[in-house]
Amino acid sequence: MSTSSDMQALMNRYGIVGRNDALREALATAVLVAPTDLSVLIQGESGVGKEVIPRIIHDHSRRRGKTYIAINCGAIPEGTIDSELFGHEKGAFTSAIGEHEGFFGAANGGTLFLDEVGELPLSTQARLLRVLETGEYLRVGSSTPRQTNVRIVAATNVDIPNAIKQGRFREDLYYRLSTINIKMPPLRKRQGDAVLLFKKFALDTADRYNIPEPIRLTPEAEQVVNAYKWPGNIRQLRNITEQLSILSESRSITPEVLAKYGITPNSDADTGIATIGGSSGTASQHDYEQEIKILAHAVFELRSEVQELKEKLQGGHAWNEQQGSQLPVPVQSQKNTPASHTPYHSLPGSMDIATAEEIVDDDTLNIGDMEKRNILLALQRNHYKRKLAADELGISERTLYRKIKAYGIDE
Ligand SMILES: Nc1ncnc2c1ncn2[C@@H]1O[C@H](COP(=O)(O)OP(=O)(O)OP(=O)(O)O)[C@@H](O)[C@H]1O
Ligand SMILES: [Mg+2]
Repeated sequence: MSTSSDMQALMNRYGIVGRNDALREALATAVLVAPTDLSVLIQGESGVGKEVIPRIIHDHSRRRGKTYIAINCGAIPEGTIDSELFGHEKGAFTSAIGEHEGFFGAANGGTLFLDEVGELPLSTQARLLRVLETGEYLRVGSSTPRQTNVRIVAATNVDIPNAIKQGRFREDLYYRLSTINIKMPPLRKRQGDAVLLFKKFALDTADRYNIPEPIRLTPEAEQVVNAYKWPGNIRQLRNITEQLSILSESRSITPEVLAKYGITPNSDADTGIATIGGSSGTASQHDYEQEIKILAHAVFELRSEVQELKEKLQGGHAWNEQQGSQLPVPVQSQKNTPASHTPYHSLPGSMDIATAEEIVDDDTLNIGDMEKRNILLALQRNHYKRKLAADELGISERTLYRKIKAYGIDE
């Protein structure tokens, strides 16, 4: 990266915001190593923005015109992961009706991003090591080696040296994967970036939901946002900003409003669990109100999706034209109905509890909705750290990944 304007152009292209040196160094390293075929391991806490790095590497490499595949290793069930990655022969197992190429075959000539690589089962780690060292792999059910030319970029939020000590990760694979190490800094170490990101997400959300006026922080609230530890990093900041944009009646966000969301300068980020509604006031009342608001938001999203589907099927009317609807209109649904614009004041957050309860009692909520709601709440309570949320829900992280995907939850 020769000049700072090159760096700014790169950041603009990928929608990255931040002035922090460690962040810029990580981005510069990605561009620098892109033209080589070296394996890259990206490390950093959950929600710091690791996923943009492999894309930058691929786009700046000679492989840019070829296939780029991103795989979340934590989301694929253990029983099928080998065949997903390396393919299988016809009849390799009971349900293997036909042959399957697998990602290593499909990405030949291109780049494979192995996200959450720390979640790979040990047997799969052995296969991965072999392909990294020799460029050869075996399909499940085959003893004929196949060749592939794939550049590997991996990412993890797991402390791999610790996983090695516990026998969950192969040391040799770690060294092989991390020829180049890129460390993404946590948000709490990026002085000033949290406020910049807040502004970006406030504008994005206002655009997305056609909110006339983006929210803004008071100078005192800026100090709180800067001092808070953001244990869920940028993902947590984005979610809080979106919620505030939709739920807050006032466009000016004060420290008191932030405190309701558990954002206070002295919050102990290391406890992992935040009390929704903050530490002030009667916790259970706040929890309840907050849950209702989140639920209303979930229902709003669900309804807007259903409406979009209806519109696609019927070429019909936007749902803000329906009698009695108090919910906001997503930009797409709104473009043909400017006269019936619903202001943000009637978004779920400004409903009184009774109105929200009507929605809760509404028979539109089925078991799936309730499960989606529980998942959303658990993610929220755990600062969007999937591992902690999965523990709280009593399900495995893998199952949580799949449910997040299945319900289309946008973390
Ligand atoms: N510097 C940044 N500027 C703007 N948005 C960012 C930045 N970094 C991350 N984001 C956004 O933050 C969110 C979280 O980032 P990402 O999904 O890459 O996290 P991650 O490091 O992969 O976390 P995990 O380990 O939990 O998967 C994404 O929506 C991403 O677009
Ligand atoms: Mg990720």
